[in-house]
Amino acid sequence: MVPPPLAALLGSLLLCCAGLTKGVKITSAVQPMVEKAQGEKVTLPCTFTLAPEDQGPLDVEWILIPTDNQKKEQTILMYSVDRIYNDYYEAMKERVRFTNSDPKLGDGSIDILNLKSTDTGTYQCKVKKAPGVESQKIQLTVLVKPARTKCYIEGSQETGSDLILKCASQEGSPLLSYNWRKLTGTEELPATSLLNKDTGELSVKNASQEYSGTYTCVAANRVGTDECFVVLNVTPPINAAGTIAGAVIGTLLGLLLLAFLIFCCCKKRKEKKYEKEVHHDIREDVPPPKSRTSTAHSYIGSNRSSLGSMSPSNMEGYAKTPYNKVPSEDFERSSGQNPNFPPSKVAAPNLSRMGAVPVMIPAQSKDGSIV
Ligand SMILES: *[C@@H]1O[C@H](CO)[C@@H](O)[C@H](O)[C@H]1NC(C)=O
Repeated sequence: MVPPPLAALLGSLLLCCAGLTKGVKITSAVQPMVEKAQGEKVTLPCTFTLAPEDQGPLDVEWILIPTDNQKKEQTILMYSVDRIYNDYYEAMKERVRFTNSDPKLGDGSIDILNLKSTDTGTYQCKVKKAPGVESQKIQLTVLVKPARTKCYIEGSQETGSDLILKCASQEGSPLLSYNWRKLTGTEELPATSLLNKDTGELSVKNASQEYSGTYTCVAANRVGTDECFVVLNVTPPINAAGTIAGAVIGTLLGLLLLAFLIFCCCKKRKEKKYEKEVHHDIREDVPPPKSRTSTAHSYIGSNRSSLGSMSPSNMEGYAKTPYNKVPSEDFERSSGQNPNFPPSKVAAPNLSRMGAVPVMIPAQSKDGSIV
């Protein structure tokens, strides 16, 4: 039923596929993914066996299939008919070579030296010896080791406060993980601490002084580690509010003291001035205190004597005189009835009748003279 040409085609196809399995065979273990650090060297394996039915010349070709699908495949190294061609890919020209200088012996593996992150991609090894042909792919990821890792503390380092030990690498491929350790004392992380390995944060609640010490953070990804150190020094709290209150109170007290001193100073000066004046007066006009009292008595005595000198009849006359008429009568009397009675002395009884203390009058007048 099947036409002979088609049967021949099918037969040749079958032969081809059978030949593939029978002919060239890549023997290196399938290793879909390789991760290496930047700067390191990688060997991409591609060992093979040949079959007697493969008669053509041997070609071993390495192709880079970029992760970006838009970029075209790039041949990077080739062995063809006993010759090595390595002048394809500028970016890798000096860094790629066959691991075995004679690949025809069955080793088409390559070494890539001084890896760069841009070397990341899928590498395909293709071994051809017609009609046999086989290929294998390896995914290479060039990772950057964690580097320039910084440790620092965020928050107050006072007892009772919450703080965070922070750790961050400025370089390094994902996935980075961080771990904190304490190097001094009990070498145990604070009981109240919580570690986030992804962010590098070690949260410490209610800090206490025994948490003080040297801590280290180790940042790690699959290709390397980097560490940093920080010293935590938990100190007793400095009560800011208390300090401010203290300062304010202190200032107020100081001002009060100053005001008091100024007041005292002024008072003393005033007193001194007054004393000086009084002293001056006493010295000039009034005899010493003892004699002064005696003088006062003498004045009173003299007053009494002057009053006593008035006769009862005279007094009666004064008593009869209505208060409102006193001045005129006094004048009349002083001018007429009692010519011997001095007018100044007449005033005294009048004043006494008006409620004044007659005794004091001369003293007062004396004091008045003083002023
Ligand atoms: C904080 O720690 C001290 C002792 O270190 C403890 O007495 C206190 O209760 C703690 N406070 C809180 C809020 O956990």
